[in-house]
Amino acid sequence: MKIHVKVNGKDYTREVAGNRTLLRFLREDLGLTGTKEGCGAGECGACTVILNGKTVNSCLVLAPEVDGGVIETVEGEAKNGKLSKLQEAFHRNHGVQCGFCTPGMLMSVKSLLKIHPKPTVAEIKEAIEGNFCRCTGYQQIIESVLDATGQLKPRKEEIRRVR
Ligand code: FES
Ligand code: FES
Repeated sequence: MKIHVKVNGKDYTREVAGNRTLLRFLREDLGLTGTKEGCGAGECGACTVILNGKTVNSCLVLAPEVDGGVIETVEGEAKNGKLSKLQEAFHRNHGVQCGFCTPGMLMSVKSLLKIHPKPTVAEIKEAIEGNFCRCTGYQQIIESVLDATGQLKPRKEEIRRVR
């Protein structure tokens, strides 16, 4: 079937098979390979994107289901070659190591910040609980989010308490 979607503000129309996942659609049909495939089974969060304002595991969503949808992926973060504030904070605080989890992590955090522009440590942890990271131990990721929201210094003590 033919579907129409808006991805990172750009319109696309493509023919897709009924069993095409949103993940494969983004990566293979649109060439947006920033979104990663880890488990392919809804467990790791590497494939997280924002669909109509909410995070989804794109490996579990079928492309025909998103017809008419608005999708945000990591490719929409940097503008004119300049990293977003959130990406810069991840870079500065070593929230990125191998980087495999990062695109999905950024989408989960972006979604959180729309609701809680100054999230607590507990809110950050809850927002990223479905995003597995095998490298950072999560502390640098939490610090990255606090830095991006201007709260790193005041909440250092809170980070220690919830570890
Ligand atoms: S690849 Fe989708 S949750 Fe792991
Ligand atoms: S930075 Fe390697 S999995 Fe998170």
